[in-house]
Amino acid sequence: MRILITGAAGRLGSLLVARLQENHDVIGVDLADFDITDFQVTRGFIVDAAPELVIHAAAWTDVDGCAREPDKALLMNGYGTQHVALGAAVAGAAMLYVSSNEVFDGKRPHAYREYDPTSPANPYGYSKWVGEQVVMRHAARHYIVRTAWLFAHGGKNFIQAILNAAQAGKTIRVVVDEVANPTYTNDLAAAITQLIATERYGLYHFVNEGICSRYVFARYILDRAGYTDTPITPIASAEWQRASTPPPYSPLANTAGRALGIHLRTWQAAVDAFLDTEDLLAKR
Ligand SMILES: NC(=O)c1ccc[n+]([C@@H]2O[C@H](COP(=O)([O-])OP(=O)(O)OC[C@H]3O[C@@H](n4cnc5c(N)ncnc54)[C@H](OP(=O)(O)O)[C@@H]3O)[C@@H](O)[C@H]2O)c1
Repeated sequence: MRILITGAAGRLGSLLVARLQENHDVIGVDLADFDITDFQVTRGFIVDAAPELVIHAAAWTDVDGCAREPDKALLMNGYGTQHVALGAAVAGAAMLYVSSNEVFDGKRPHAYREYDPTSPANPYGYSKWVGEQVVMRHAARHYIVRTAWLFAHGGKNFIQAILNAAQAGKTIRVVVDEVANPTYTNDLAAAITQLIATERYGLYHFVNEGICSRYVFARYILDRAGYTDTPITPIASAEWQRASTPPPYSPLANTAGRALGIHLRTWQAAVDAFLDTEDLLAKR
């Protein structure tokens, strides 16, 4: 299949390019190729590339930046996605849009299923939600894949930030009242690879299995990397000053993917695999 992947230099996009090009004709594009906020250029590039599937992984993922500049967030994540969807429609391509758990406000005490009502609580979540709406309107054949708390090799990630702080002997303060599903980009890319072979278009929640707070996530990372004596101070999110307001309880439940036999291992097994690959897993 001929697949165009946006955000090809990003954490998830780069992995999708590497993985899918083994069996597909892949065109990876990023900001250096064109800016998705430019409708004419975006549509023209997609139509000329003539893909059968467009995987849209590009986004402005700086949630605090989005909170400070909500109009820019909407332009990039909302209307940028509309431009990609309209390009895919003219090209006659199916589309896969990567969305976020932040389309939910996190005020319910249980995990969100795919068709639960959305209610974004911050500008990043709103911009991703607008992206979902335009994909549903303009891309006749589409997958929407929501995910959460990605960690990837290279670049910025929560695991490395916690380990860097431990190595530097810094005081580590982590919030206890923000809960979701840590998700390994490698596992997400594998799940997306399975999904696009099904042509079962629809809405999916692809996250590693299990639910935890940022605090429990951090504690697990330190313990598995051998920093069992390094303390973490649990704090409330109100004590962690930041521009965005993350949903407090926004884990996703993968019910639609599971019905197709697509499910991801536990987040603990995924963290172990990540640490092992980085040669950071402590020997028991
Ligand atoms: N990271 C998470 O925890 C998380 C959680 C849930 C959902 N998601 C979603 O998963 C997807 C992939 O996330 P990720 O963490 O892999 O993102 P990422 O590493 O930030 O990569 C996004 C890529 O998009 C590019 N981009 C930004 N603005 C663009 C524009 N106007 N035109 C063209 N390209 C543009 C970026 O280029 P520059 O770097 O040059 O700006 C970057 O290479 C996104 O849709 C995100 O919303 C992420």
